[in-house]
Amino acid sequence: MKVTIVGAGMVGSSIAYASMIKGVAREIALVDINRELAKGQAMDLSHGNAYVRPMRIHGGDYDVSSDSDVVVITAGRPQKGGESRLQLLKDNARIVKEAVAKSLSYSKEPVFIIVTNPVDVLTWVAWKASGLPRNRIVGSGTTLDTARLRQSIADHCQLDPRNVHAYVLGEHGDSEIVNWSHADIAGIPLTDFCRNCRRDCEADLFQKLFEETKNAAYKIIEKKGSTFYGIGLAVSKVLSTIFNNQHSVLTVSSVHPEFEGLKDVPFSVPTILGREGVERILKVGLSSAELKGLSNSAGIIANAIKNLRD
Ligand code: NAI
Repeated sequence: MKVTIVGAGMVGSSIAYASMIKGVAREIALVDINRELAKGQAMDLSHGNAYVRPMRIHGGDYDVSSDSDVVVITAGRPQKGGESRLQLLKDNARIVKEAVAKSLSYSKEPVFIIVTNPVDVLTWVAWKASGLPRNRIVGSGTTLDTARLRQSIADHCQLDPRNVHAYVLGEHGDSEIVNWSHADIAGIPLTDFCRNCRRDCEADLFQKLFEETKNAAYKIIEKKGSTFYGIGLAVSKVLSTIFNNQHSVLTVSSVHPEFEGLKDVPFSVPTILGREGVERILKVGLSSAELKGLSNSAGIIANAIKNLRD
């Protein structure tokens, strides 16, 4: 299986690095408007081949991407400190449209994974630009936010984050929500798990954990300029799920035909992924406040799409 990563910057190269270490894919192509950067990243990565399952790695312009099964788009400009993800929209929409069109002239019907921010709106842009069925356009969505939330809960409760079943839903951004009402550990609702724990936790613990998750990117950007390792691992998991037809449940973003009166709106909910991309979007239990929050989040994304079209 071959993956092309358009955008060989920090996020693109981290996805390639994580995928290489995990043995995802047989061939990786890195494409960037800065061809020398793409070539340099490919050379650097290939020098690790002796220590992993070796794979073919190329860098350059779109011709290196031919016959890809999956195309990951990370091309764009990163979020600046204090800037909301939606502010990036217009510049990155143009870049994603071009990346989709050029990729399609070298690969027939790949599955696209959109990572560039604002990822939900750009998932819609990629879907429109590609003309492909909606299952083949997958946004990285809240996969990273879900991992951040699980890490925060795990740190607090002294647990393995892989045993925490809690999901961040909606926009990958400020309006995202958590489905606390259905979060559990070993089938024990998180609220019960916390009630029976001997530690003396703050009454607003869940709100604090949520704020920590939601503001993580801003904090990291403040400290080191951008975020890339977490998303690198999250997208390598999306890739392994697709390549190995694993049917894993991940909170990716996809274009929902209809949600609470909104048509063709992209956002994240737990979704089963396999070889052809989205296999099934799961209908998770939500409290009425959570449903309201999710509708609000979907509405914000729909509005951004409307602004982009106007
Ligand atoms: P970066 O600046 O390191 O890399 C972006 C790369 O895109 C650069 O190498 C640039 O030359 C390339 N590029 C720009 N225009 C292009 C074009 N027309 N064609 C091909 N390549 C082009 O930025 P970084 O840190 O890698 O971030 C990339 C994107 O990923 C940003 O939009 C950022 O906000 C997003 N991101 C998304 C996350 C998520 O959870 N969805 C998490 C972290 C970052």
